[in-house]
Amino acid sequence: CLEEYREFSVAVVTGGATGIGHAVTQELLYLGCNVVIASRKEEQLKQAVTELKGEIEETSPPRLMHVPCNIRQELQVKHLFEETLKQYGKLDYLVNNGGGQFLCQAADISKKGWNAVIETNLTGIFLMCQEAHKQWMGEHGGVIVNMLMDMDRGVPMMAHSGAARAGVENLTKSFAVEWAHHGIRVNAVAPGNSIYSETAAKNYPIDVFERVKPHLPAKRLGTPEEVSAAVCFLLSPAASYITGETVHVDGGGRLYSPLFWTVPDHKMLQPFHSNQGVEEATKPKSKL
Ligand code: ADE
Repeated sequence: CLEEYREFSVAVVTGGATGIGHAVTQELLYLGCNVVIASRKEEQLKQAVTELKGEIEETSPPRLMHVPCNIRQELQVKHLFEETLKQYGKLDYLVNNGGGQFLCQAADISKKGWNAVIETNLTGIFLMCQEAHKQWMGEHGGVIVNMLMDMDRGVPMMAHSGAARAGVENLTKSFAVEWAHHGIRVNAVAPGNSIYSETAAKNYPIDVFERVKPHLPAKRLGTPEEVSAAVCFLLSPAASYITGETVHVDGGGRLYSPLFWTVPDHKMLQPFHSNQGVEEATKPKSKL
């Protein structure tokens, strides 16, 4: 039975139950991958598995499974990869998407809060990459994609997370060089703060998404699926010569300053998956 599944690829996606991680999981399943989703929140993981299973064929072992894992804890990280290898016998892709922070002015961040954010968003990614390398990829190769944020101009109200993710970008480059001869590629994706998901909306102040729109060359919000497309591209053989790189998925937002040039309102940069229509896909649904 396991032999059969060696034909399929195997991916671990942290934070795979919600937001961008959910879109990545869905796309990888669609592409035929086996996927293990992991996060601290078991109920959310179970819900996502139940929902996504409706979209794929029933198999044994199932194409989608979940493992509760706090990426700050070395033993839990070790367990996640052990379970993955026990179930599927291999590991091709690792998507380090899980992370989190709280909004706070830099002057008010406590040491405890600072350490918690650094532990999750920097140390956790380090532990995940190191363990994936140790248990499988060091010997067999593989591809890693780390999720960053739009942090290149500093991140007011999220200084801790910006620092952690800038650290991950550098780590991505170090791993890309140190592990190239193991057949491992390591890249990063930096979604803009204009990617709309209900998970993100719950974490941000009320009008963040409406406020950011005029400052985007795309003049529209982005979707988790548009981030997932970049992740899946980097995982795929189409990116076989790309390593240590960061792909920004932000509608050009990080580049735009309206000082000398104002982008007129337009609807010319439509999303590729617009069957729902971009207005619908990025419409503030919950509290906005
Ligand atoms: N998502 C946010 N924080 C996390 C953690 N500590 N472990 C796994 N996923 C997370």
